[in-house]
Amino acid sequence: MPLGERRRRASTVRGVSRLRTERLELRPLVPSDFAQWNEVRERCRHWLVKWEPRPPAGVPDPSRDPQAFTNRCRVRERERSLGTAFDFGLWHEGWFCGEINISHVARGAFQSAHVGYWIDERLAGKGLVAEGLLAVFGFAFDQAGLHRVQVSIMPRNAASLRVVEKLGLRSEGIAQGYIQIAGVWEDHVRFGLTTEEWRARRDDMAAGLRSARSGGIAQSSGSDNHS
Ligand SMILES: CC(C)(COP(=O)(O)OP(=O)(O)OC[C@H]1O[C@@H](n2cnc3c(N)ncnc32)[C@H](O)[C@@H]1OP(=O)(O)O)[C@@H](O)C(=O)NCCC(=O)NCCS
Repeated sequence: MPLGERRRRASTVRGVSRLRTERLELRPLVPSDFAQWNEVRERCRHWLVKWEPRPPAGVPDPSRDPQAFTNRCRVRERERSLGTAFDFGLWHEGWFCGEINISHVARGAFQSAHVGYWIDERLAGKGLVAEGLLAVFGFAFDQAGLHRVQVSIMPRNAASLRVVEKLGLRSEGIAQGYIQIAGVWEDHVRFGLTTEEWRARRDDMAAGLRSARSGGIAQSSGSDNHS
């Protein structure tokens, strides 16, 4: 087998290639990642849980329980093999620092999915999630064959709204009582991106992020009604 092919296969986790950006590596989490996952999730618990669905009572917490984390990895692996969800852990300078996940993939005439994300509080404010999102959008459209992805954000989550503003995602308005967050059915602003928009705008999105990192003003076309 040629070396290039061996490398390509070695960097594949159950059909999902590792993605790389300038500052991030993205790949599915595996059971041996538990120690890093546990450290970040425990340290950032208060930073994260107010923005996340409350898990059902009595279900073991994968942040604290290695077996529950292993089970989570196995479920995600199965979802990847079925093409119903694609999970990406984020690594920055070799350290696990967050996730960007594609979930609720609907095939058939829909070819659509949801994208969610979080990052270690210590690494917030560096534009890492938007950088990772560009890679994940590329995966969603160019490898997973999706036609549309959606990001849903509570109107009071200013930091997350800023992420989609930097990318210029298109607001589709507010969905009332849309997702259970921390035990409450919360309104969310829905932001959509289709494969046609991606093809037309991906270079501008990347340029906008580079500009924002170097102190310029990020373009915000298409996301003007969520502030
Ligand atoms: C929302 C989130 C993913 C943004 O990721 P990020 O990589 O920090 O995003 P950015 O670096 O582009 O920063 C976005 C905004 O967050 C705010 N921000 C920056 N540093 C921050 C910090 N240390 N703490 C809180 N907010 C901060 C700023 O307003 C920033 O906008 P700016 O770059 O114009 O100043 C991150 O804040 C997070 O994980 N929050 C908790 C979980 C969550 O809300 N997930 C999303 C649910 S929809």
